[in-house]
Amino acid sequence: MIKIEQMVKYYGSFPALNGLSLQIDKGELFGFVGPNGAGKTTTMKILAGLLPYESGEMWIDGEAAVSGTGSWKEKIGYMPDFFGVYDNLKVMEYMEFYASIYGMEGHGAREYLYELLDHMGLSDKADAYVDHLSRGMKQRLCLARALIHDPPILILDEPASGMEPRARYELREILRQLSAEGRTIIVSSHILPDLAEMCTSIGIIEEGKMVVKGTVEQIMSRFNASNPLVMQFTSGQEEGMRVLKENPLTQNIASRGNSVSVIFHGGAEEEADLLAQLIRAGAMISSYRREEGNLEELFLRLTEGGDQHAEV
Ligand SMILES: Nc1ncnc2c1ncn2[C@@H]1O[C@H](COP(=O)(O)OP(=O)(O)OP(=O)(O)O)[C@@H](O)[C@H]1O
Ligand SMILES: [Mg+2]
Repeated sequence: MIKIEQMVKYYGSFPALNGLSLQIDKGELFGFVGPNGAGKTTTMKILAGLLPYESGEMWIDGEAAVSGTGSWKEKIGYMPDFFGVYDNLKVMEYMEFYASIYGMEGHGAREYLYELLDHMGLSDKADAYVDHLSRGMKQRLCLARALIHDPPILILDEPASGMEPRARYELREILRQLSAEGRTIIVSSHILPDLAEMCTSIGIIEEGKMVVKGTVEQIMSRFNASNPLVMQFTSGQEEGMRVLKENPLTQNIASRGNSVSVIFHGGAEEEADLLAQLIRAGAMISSYRREEGNLEELFLRLTEGGDQHAEV
């Protein structure tokens, strides 16, 4: 549905995108995460046809999207990260203004726009001034606007920023529903757990390059594979320690009371094999598992400039 290859974008002499490649399939709800200045907004503006780029290729819905033409714009609903100022414009007038760009006018259009507002929980604000809406309401109005022409692709730049937890939850529900209707959605955020909960896949960008892309499960399991194995001995700890020390895949064995943690460079099969060896040696073990990292930790590890760049 969306494919970007080796995208390079300069602002003056500053390379904001550094050979970014990305593929998003139809119907995906894709979470775009990265630290400030990583290039999320830049990528999203390019996808929305609002910004030219220096080199690289891009396809939207099977068609080559040529820099500077924006010929694919009508397929995209774009919600910018910044909501403008609209002196003396009321909510319904704002919606009607954007609808008129798509040639939608008259009573039918008004009813449709009202429905969209209602869907975003803004029907009682139709006659309020746009500038008087709260920040979260403005975000929802912006999303309603992006949906006016019923686009198959939605590009939402930090739609949840400034929202309180309840509003975030409601937004997630709305996005899930829009995704279930078959839309392809790209949503950016700094808050990885927020995205992880609803997205079908996640991409982490840093310094204008994709660092990791995959499902949340794939990313977590890759990450967890480098976490220590932690086991609790009920008896036979000495025998167990001997087995651990002799195993060529272990490193940094540390014990505290009857809990032992060890860095283990093996996959699931080797893990099972190690457990069998421990038991054969006479150890009794009540729990045995990989320590699980959390998503925030993963985000920090991947964006600290390490060399873990990979596609999973
Ligand atoms: N109009 C511009 N002129 C010059 N540099 C720019 C411009 N817009 C963005 N940049 C630079 O490009 C880089 C990427 O910016 P971008 O806004 O895409 O990051 P981002 O990932 O969206 O960050 P944030 O999480 O803060 O929104 C930054 O270093 C930024 O300073
Ligand atoms: Mg941004």
